[in-house]
Amino acid sequence: MAIREIRISGDEILKKRSREVEVVDDRIREILNDMDETMHSANGVGLSAVQVGILKRLVVVDVNYDGSPSLKLVNPVIVKQKGEQEVEEGCLSFPNQFAKVIRPKEVTVKALDENGKPITIKGKDLLAQCLAHEIDHLDGVLFVEKMEEGTLQYIDPEEEENK
Ligand code: NI
Repeated sequence: MAIREIRISGDEILKKRSREVEVVDDRIREILNDMDETMHSANGVGLSAVQVGILKRLVVVDVNYDGSPSLKLVNPVIVKQKGEQEVEEGCLSFPNQFAKVIRPKEVTVKALDENGKPITIKGKDLLAQCLAHEIDHLDGVLFVEKMEEGTLQYIDPEEEENK
């Protein structure tokens, strides 16, 4: 496994659409494992492959941080969504920036797992938010395009520590 470099806002790749994965093989599993390690090392709850410079429809999500395995999704699609939630959101590609975004309260996602097996995931609250955010990345859609006007905040991590 390896930690990969996270692409930061301003990098044009973040606006591109990622391609479907046709075969879930060892190379795909290696990318998913690297994404998982990269996400955890950056204390993120989700990461898409485009954020490490790979235009494939791959997402990792871990909203628990309790040692349970992360969700590793290939070609994820939201097939159903319900309700709305207004949430404070950030993104590993936008360091120290947060804004208010409306996300679905519940989503049902169909995908393949890391072995190429079809799976269905139902997520609520933070998991629903996170799945919607990461799946947006696969179409080049960034949270700052969805944020409510005037809600973008910059948080200086050093200032936070000195408080
Ligand atoms: Ni993001």
